[in-house]
Amino acid sequence: MTTAVVQYQLEGSIGIVRIDNPPVNALSHPVRAGIMAALDQARADGSKLLLLLCAGRTFIAGADISEFGKPPAEPGLPAVVAAIEHFPKPVLAALHGTALGGGLEVALAAHYRCALPGTRLGLPEVKLGLLPGAGGTQRLPRLVGVATALDMMTGGEPVSAARALELGLVDHLLEGGVELQSAALGYAHQLLADGAGVRPTGARIVPAPPTPDFFDDYRASIARKSRGLIAPGYIVELVEFACLHPVEQGQALERERFIECRNSPQSAALRHVFFAERACAKLTNIPADTRALPVKTVAVIGAGTMGGGIAMCFASAGIPVTLVETSRDNLDRGLGVVRRNYETSVKRGRYTQGQVDDILANITGTTDYADIAGADLVIEAVFENMAVKQEVFRTLDASCKADCILATNTSYLDVNAIAAVTSRPERVVGAHFFSPANVMKLLEVVRAQKTAPEVLLTFMQLAKTIGKIAVAVGVCHGFVGNRMLKGYARQAQLLLLEGASPQQVDGAMEAWGMAMGPLAVGDLAGLDIGYRSRRDQGIASRSAKESALADTLVEMDRLGQKSAAGYYRYDPETRSRQPDPEVATLIADIAAQWKVPRRVIDDEEIVDRLTLALINEGAAILAEGIAARPGDVDIVYLNGYGFPQWRGGPMFHADSLGLATVVAKLKALRELTADPCWEPAALLVQLAQEGRTLASLQP
Ligand code: CAA
Repeated sequence: MTTAVVQYQLEGSIGIVRIDNPPVNALSHPVRAGIMAALDQARADGSKLLLLLCAGRTFIAGADISEFGKPPAEPGLPAVVAAIEHFPKPVLAALHGTALGGGLEVALAAHYRCALPGTRLGLPEVKLGLLPGAGGTQRLPRLVGVATALDMMTGGEPVSAARALELGLVDHLLEGGVELQSAALGYAHQLLADGAGVRPTGARIVPAPPTPDFFDDYRASIARKSRGLIAPGYIVELVEFACLHPVEQGQALERERFIECRNSPQSAALRHVFFAERACAKLTNIPADTRALPVKTVAVIGAGTMGGGIAMCFASAGIPVTLVETSRDNLDRGLGVVRRNYETSVKRGRYTQGQVDDILANITGTTDYADIAGADLVIEAVFENMAVKQEVFRTLDASCKADCILATNTSYLDVNAIAAVTSRPERVVGAHFFSPANVMKLLEVVRAQKTAPEVLLTFMQLAKTIGKIAVAVGVCHGFVGNRMLKGYARQAQLLLLEGASPQQVDGAMEAWGMAMGPLAVGDLAGLDIGYRSRRDQGIASRSAKESALADTLVEMDRLGQKSAAGYYRYDPETRSRQPDPEVATLIADIAAQWKVPRRVIDDEEIVDRLTLALINEGAAILAEGIAARPGDVDIVYLNGYGFPQWRGGPMFHADSLGLATVVAKLKALRELTADPCWEPAALLVQLAQEGRTLASLQP
């Protein structure tokens, strides 16, 4: 029996089922049907053991996520998994690459599991707003115990093959460097020689939980991390259920919960995020034959917080990096901070001392530009000021080799103006890292007017190498993220003057799902940053209604968390925030001064105004081509600004609300406030009139 994606062949006493469904052997309908057909054939032939493996780079990486929004097609995965578990001959799954989600569930239903070293095994469904839907919640605890099973399913992170062997999740590690099929056949013959019989995982007893209150304690321990999500609570419920009931009953309940999760708006949002994250790595507007340039050595100008963090990204990825500073003192200070950051990582168990020693060997420092003349890429990370940055770029242009890529780490500035001072504007690109650069995943890669396609492509690929999620954006003040933030932060200020308190604004946004409310974010970042930026733009202190409060706080030395006071008061020990009556009085005074009438504001208005400000600006950004796809805007907001993943990002959220509703709400706010910022973006009006979504704009 052979279908396009599943082949069956009898080799001596072993029946081999080989799945070949590139790129990741996802369990699409033809794969499920093909496995069933192969089982039928193997049931009747002379095989004594069935070996299940995959062609290509990986074992099955899960259900086919793109099928989730579509009507189900039989056989479903639970039926396939049951057929494997109840197969009358021993079934061995041979794993390589990644065995994830439904893929691991298939392997769990097999009677024996072996894996190549380097294989990673996991149930990441929770990241898609789902729970394992084909027996994973019932079989995994039977193999590895309740605590490990819960950690794997509520965290979604895979384990290594070596760890899987320790846990009893795999029975045998195959020899590395050997072709999968021949190594697995060797183990299959060994099993037959040992008289191995069928061994259904579902027939095992779940090991008792470590303590009587284990499940309640576990629920409490994940409450914060799983805020707003449906699936984690259900996973705990299902594992608890597995302790008391046979696998068939557990699987029936699991199916119910799975279908509820699969049909939930939050899973739709998280699936959108999965595909958007992959789409944004693909550049749409470069010639198809563009090739990336080799980057073997990197230099970073400026060893401050940003420069040091950026250098760490490269060093950790094994790319030699030179930090450049104006003086030995500054350099030593910067290198010291880098070293201490790595020491903390060792203490937290993220790296071993040996690994850190190797990483630190990748970092050198200099005060002489001549030392970076041969670098393939230089990233400037000096003070955010046009004149200062242009001066650095003149120096770089004069001292770096002709084909060196010059990148500027800027949050707001015009990359065209920076490129213009060099003789190689086609080699200049913007790289907006987020602070702390060694931690934050997001990177806005800014394509200036003259940036060459291969330079853009190189930076996008390099970003992946250093573990970043990169989004290509065009030049405008603040690019995608900070440009959208402006209107959002402005609404927070206006709401305070109109009658809301900082704790109400932050509380409403946090209850809605934001990692942190806008005012708490301001306090965390430091209110002096915005103050200085306004001053640099020539905006006099307290000259505008929407910055009067922030300016006043800074002038009172209330800079935020670092001075234990900002919009809130902070406990110097615990950093917990407390409402401050002094701020409440100050807000009332400023509102009176600007003649802003005060009223009771409800949480719904707060959420509406802040999210609509993002949506309206995001739509303008799309219309201008600053971002290529709505999903790109979402990825920026999800990874750089604490937007809840399960809401899919501001553009996805707009589609979820319906664009006609969005436009109606914007118009209502324009009526209510007479503020021109609520003029609906032309793109929104047009799409709403045509009954379309932002998602329909895919390039
Ligand atoms: N379904 C459909 N498409 C998938 C897929 C899946 N499960 N997994 C990956 N793909 C696609 C990607 O969209 C991408 O397509 P494009 O090339 O068109 O963009 C392609 O496969 C390659 O994927 P990556 O770019 O992510 O490749 P990678 O090598 O960086 O990573 C991977 C490979 C680790 C397998 C990663 O793709 C991944 O984590 N996939 C998702 C795994 C997952 O969540 N599985 C659980 C699914 S839900 C489930 O199984 C429910 C259940 O219990 C029944």
